[in-house]
Amino acid sequence: MKKIQIALDGPAGAGKSTIAKQLASKLGYVYIDTGAMYRAVTLSALESEVDLEDGEELGKLVKTLAIRLTPGENGQRVFIGEREVTEAIRSSEVTNNVSFVARQKQVRDALVALQRSVASEGGVVMDGRDIGTVVLPDAELKVYMDATVEERAGRRHRENIARGMESDLQALQAEIALRDKRDSEREVSPLSQAADAVYLDTTHLTIDEVVDQLNALVNGVLQ
Ligand code: DC
Repeated sequence: MKKIQIALDGPAGAGKSTIAKQLASKLGYVYIDTGAMYRAVTLSALESEVDLEDGEELGKLVKTLAIRLTPGENGQRVFIGEREVTEAIRSSEVTNNVSFVARQKQVRDALVALQRSVASEGGVVMDGRDIGTVVLPDAELKVYMDATVEERAGRRHRENIARGMESDLQALQAEIALRDKRDSEREVSPLSQAADAVYLDTTHLTIDEVVDQLNALVNGVLQ
């Protein structure tokens, strides 16, 4: 059967990664979390004390990092070279700084090239902010997933608690709103819905309902 490219975009906490993982496993496709790549660069920049406003230096840094994503039992694992950073890239320090790194053109150019190369054979579900608009403009299926900021913060809060992490719902809501603003207002490849993307509001939908809707969209494309 033909293997297509599926682009899933939307703001933080809209459920993209949960859905993308399940959809990819249902279809036997590869799941690629592009946010994890921006997070890996941010972790490395913080550790090596590179100025997060310095696009040139960040661009040089990205070129030295061998970022790899591999499927693991509990979702995707992330490596920089041989070092596993799956957990480290989810720290609040990385989360609160990643938008600065993600707005640098040099960083985006390098990561977009990597993302295109891993998606080139098709059979891929890729999630991010600019997948349908910039990374894979010819993807056969594009979906823009959204939900209210209250619902998105609530989901992150429940995820944190389930992972045994401390979590403050009000703070999360403020952080998510700020990150949405930075991601949508940046000059290079801001978060936006592609003209040919299907808009899906997941606020009142369960994970299974969203996966079913996407599966139906995939079947529509494959017919
Ligand atoms: O999906 P996430 O929360 O892990 O993404 C982390 C950050 O990376 C997010 O604030 C915006 C940025 N990002 C981006 O600019 N472009 C992408 N394709 C994916 C993520």
